[in-house]
Amino acid sequence: MTEPVSATAHAHPNIALVKYWGKAPRPGNVPASPSLSITLDGLTTTTTVTVKGREDAVYLDDQPVTDAKINACLDNLRRRFDIPPLEVRTSNDFPTAAGLASSASGFAALVTAVDAACTLGLAAAARSDLARQASASAARSVFGGFVVLDEPEWQGRPLLGGDAWPLRVVVAVTSDAAKTVSSSEGMRASAASPYFPGWVDSTREDFAAARFAVLERDFEQLADVAEHSCLKMHGLMLATRPALLYWNPATLACIQRIRALRADGVPVFFTVDAGPQVKAVCLPKAQDEVMAALQTVEGVQRLLTAGLGGGAWVAGQ
Ligand code: PMV
Repeated sequence: MTEPVSATAHAHPNIALVKYWGKAPRPGNVPASPSLSITLDGLTTTTTVTVKGREDAVYLDDQPVTDAKINACLDNLRRRFDIPPLEVRTSNDFPTAAGLASSASGFAALVTAVDAACTLGLAAAARSDLARQASASAARSVFGGFVVLDEPEWQGRPLLGGDAWPLRVVVAVTSDAAKTVSSSEGMRASAASPYFPGWVDSTREDFAAARFAVLERDFEQLADVAEHSCLKMHGLMLATRPALLYWNPATLACIQRIRALRADGVPVFFTVDAGPQVKAVCLPKAQDEVMAALQTVEGVQRLLTAGLGGGAWVAGQ
């Protein structure tokens, strides 16, 4: 009997500073607009893939699960490569499906682990392309630091290493509940919003401005464009039928607190994804003050902190 072939990969979530929300009308899960993100450290998905059994078996935190998106990702890989039945064991050391981009780190880790276990020999760009087809934001978690996802390839690309501009992120967790409307469903509905064309067109400008701000390490300019992109995405979500309202009262209270800090000259800005958590992005010297401020906001359950981390990697390599 041959030994099972196994590989473990790790990946971190990423947070978009220029958001994508909506798909291009073509196959391959291609975003309608470019995005720019930071990959975090500290929060990690760990996925072990073992060539085993007669059919695929997937476990999340050691519980057997049926996950349509994981199945679709494996089917997609099998359309290109000869891949035997697999056992997939995955776990996150942070809340799943609550706006902390667990699908981003999840699919970056899955594709990286399958590549290693089945010795496919894929380059990072090819893994990013495959991860994007499962969950577009996952394309960015293949890389570390500041990452762009843009045309024409729609594969993540590193823009600037995290060491070159080591921003800090304080995540205010305001709820552990799983979100009620998935990103894919929400995006489908938002495409019919009258705001959608304006969102797509103007995001190209935001992307160019944010890219420039990162390369110049211009915190104020990045803060302006990131908050604008975030609020504009939530504006589009509100102008969707049925409306997508991912915030709770503590989400808004955190945003107000961060705006007040910034108005007082503290180098911090906020961003919020398809969930109620608020991410405060700051210069390292401001982290303690930001934590002290968010800790006292009513409804904040706990704070997580992160720096900028690397791209997906295989354990032991
Ligand atoms: O690719 P998905 O399905 O994980 O959607 C990500 C959507 C946002 O997190 C809200 C924005 C983004 O660009 O990451």
